[in-house]
Amino acid sequence: MPKDTLTVIDNRTGSQYELPIADGTVKAMDLRQIRLNEDDFGLMSYDPGLTNTASTKSAITYIDGDKGILRYRGYPIEQLAAHSTYLETAYLVIFGELPTAEQLAKWESDINRHTLLHTNIQRLIETFRFNAHPMSVFISGIASLSTLYPDARMVTDPANRRLQVERMIAKTATIAAFTYRHNQGWPFDYPDDSLSFIGNFLRMMFRMTEHKYEPNPVLERALNILFILHADHEQNCGTNAMRVIGSSQADPYSSLAGAAAALYGPLHGAANEAVLRMLEQIGRPENVPAFLDRVKDGDGQRLMGFGHRIYKNYDPRCRIIKQTAEEVFQVTGRTPLLDVALELERIALQDEYFISRKLYPNVDFYSGLIYRAMKLPASMFTVMFAVPRTCGWVAHWLELLTDPEQKISRPRQIFTGPETRDYVPMAQRSA
Ligand code: CMC
Repeated sequence: MPKDTLTVIDNRTGSQYELPIADGTVKAMDLRQIRLNEDDFGLMSYDPGLTNTASTKSAITYIDGDKGILRYRGYPIEQLAAHSTYLETAYLVIFGELPTAEQLAKWESDINRHTLLHTNIQRLIETFRFNAHPMSVFISGIASLSTLYPDARMVTDPANRRLQVERMIAKTATIAAFTYRHNQGWPFDYPDDSLSFIGNFLRMMFRMTEHKYEPNPVLERALNILFILHADHEQNCGTNAMRVIGSSQADPYSSLAGAAAALYGPLHGAANEAVLRMLEQIGRPENVPAFLDRVKDGDGQRLMGFGHRIYKNYDPRCRIIKQTAEEVFQVTGRTPLLDVALELERIALQDEYFISRKLYPNVDFYSGLIYRAMKLPASMFTVMFAVPRTCGWVAHWLELLTDPEQKISRPRQIFTGPETRDYVPMAQRSA
């Protein structure tokens, strides 16, 4: 009769242990009993980047990287992208179920009510240099929300958490739009609750002198799709940061700012910006082969927008985004960089280097092209990622706080430094 256990023999001592297996995992703490002697601390697992460690149980997002499957709360990403809006998907991701018509109407009105930003934050944004990186400005704006809402520290109160959730979803969009307008030198544009959440976001970003801003329906739909695709992606670097900071019961704005800071790196959310810069550097389709040779030679340059820690066949988001990009380009016109991107994708997908390493285009390969077609500077792309990812961060924060198995995050280390030694007076030190 097969048993759900793992038998381990410690060849150092000859001792045998039986560890329970549940959900395809063994508990790292069960290794601790494996010891050389009474004084031994016990066995630990070593996993830089947590590539094979489940740090939580989660009911939010399911990914099968080999099959290219992504589902939020059981719903395939393709169906949500085809039929849902960002706010409806945000409700699903955060609360677990699709809303009824009544719940959705209340959710939309609750979010709209919170889109206005305190003038303190506006003034804070104005103090930054116009050419400050928008992600730095955005992160600062998010972090400073905790100065306005000190009640947010009451993280154990469910009603209070719900209020902060509404504020976070609403205000990240306004902070993002104000960050952009400051970057462009334009006056801030206040929210208009007669528009949808995405329509209003487009207005806050792009309204010039027109009295009544009418969002282009194709762009509004495209942004809904992009935001749905970016809403959550289970335990990625930014979400892990949200959970790590949230595990200390810090207020959610501080956790959110930390998650956004993690997203800012070029190996994570800033890859879309890096893709654009890479395409600009390549310049023309005929320069693609030489560029790819340099990537393969390992000169430190990666093919940005390719590869994923989880997806090893294709990124299901990329397929949807590619189609969305075509629709957007029909409104905005094609950008010359699209031809470079298509050539890059075509050649890389036939190249042994990329095939053998299972490197395929990821979501960021095309999102940057869409944002560029909307005339956004590359430095704004990660902000455009952070706004919808806020709903995933928020969902994981709520899940963390209501999970009785979670503790403050505090990993172990393997100490590799010197043994104890005595302080050396300055006069006796050599270089
Ligand atoms: N270009 C060239 N080679 C690559 C790339 C790439 N984009 N990605 C991985 N490799 C190579 C890497 O050099 C290594 O080769 P070798 O075995 O010869 O040493 C092999 O593939 C495995 O790489 P890895 O670094 O162990 O893979 P990883 O799973 O740790 O990295 C990744 C995943 C996304 C960080 C990486 O693929 C990468 O840097 N991609 C470019 C940046 C990018 O597009 N990031 C956005 C990810 S999607 C958005 C998000 O979810 O944040």
